[in-house]
Amino acid sequence: MIHRRIFWVALALMALALVVAACAPPLAQQEASSGELNLLCTPQVEWCEGMKAEFEKINPDITVNFVRMSSGESLTRLRNEKENPQFDIWWGGPIDSFIAAGREGLLEPYETASQDIILNKDLMLDPDSNWVGIYVGSLGFATNTEWLAENPGTEAPNSWDDLLADELASQLMVAHPSSSGTSYTSLCTILQIKGEEEGWDFLREYAGQVNQFTKSGSAPARFVGAGEAAVGIVFSHDIVKQIENGLPLVLSFPEEGTGYEVGGMGLIKGAKNLEAAKLWYDWALQPDTQELGPKYGAYQAPTVEGAEASMPELLKVNLIDYDFEWCGSNKKAFVDKFTNEIANADTLKE
Ligand code: F6P
Repeated sequence: MIHRRIFWVALALMALALVVAACAPPLAQQEASSGELNLLCTPQVEWCEGMKAEFEKINPDITVNFVRMSSGESLTRLRNEKENPQFDIWWGGPIDSFIAAGREGLLEPYETASQDIILNKDLMLDPDSNWVGIYVGSLGFATNTEWLAENPGTEAPNSWDDLLADELASQLMVAHPSSSGTSYTSLCTILQIKGEEEGWDFLREYAGQVNQFTKSGSAPARFVGAGEAAVGIVFSHDIVKQIENGLPLVLSFPEEGTGYEVGGMGLIKGAKNLEAAKLWYDWALQPDTQELGPKYGAYQAPTVEGAEASMPELLKVNLIDYDFEWCGSNKKAFVDKFTNEIANADTLKE
């Protein structure tokens, strides 16, 4: 009789344990639902702040700590921290740097069902799963309209060659390719349009027109808007943002073709909060998440099905067939050549 009772109690306890186990989230989710996430964030700081707040809203037990750093600086930081990584995920910045990071073993491959809705998998999904594309944006020129008015006969540039005009001597502003992904996109665009030999000659002349190199890619739009130079080379969405902010700028594109970026995202090899990083990764590929950009002044186009572009016209320009693989795998060599032979990065503005 007693044995039978013990048997039934044991059976009931086992059943209870099974029910509890079935209702509990899987281990990965349990670990990820609380703790910290250290985010290396390359887009403009307003968007980083907005994304942190949005993620924490739906994951209230995870605190996102982010540092905003330009692409080249981020890559250097990841290289230096290879043995003891301080970041869990890198979100944003042109994929040229992600391709370089993947080749150097700095990223943790990740395959997830969230990638199924990527629009162009050949372009936006690394075959080795080191990175995925999260936005797209084209390069443009930002010209100060007051400078145009004060200099009769001048026009906003419509060609790369227009940047070499005499009236633009010391009037050009662009970031340095060692720190900035924007500037590296511009460098590699020129090498592709003109070919390597002519391209390097052109880059030498173009650097001679530069008033001051900046650290961050979007900064020239602000400085040109403030009248510190006449023309800046910046991603077009960053120019639109400063026009919206009321700066006297006009956006133009080089008619012979302009470069573009696919903004990337990748997990960091050796990340200490890998499960939280995967939560962010999956969340960043949801259509609703990708439509958050404009709320934070970011007008890059989304990369997933079901997400609407806020300014599709920014990609309806003459885009070159940018070779990300070539630019990514040559990034170190091209940046070193530019820094050693054309313009060093000793005194960068902001
Ligand atoms: O968010 C602004 C932005 O232009 C992104 O589109 C781009 O990926 C990133 O900044 C590049 O920043 P940087 O040129 O400073 O590396």
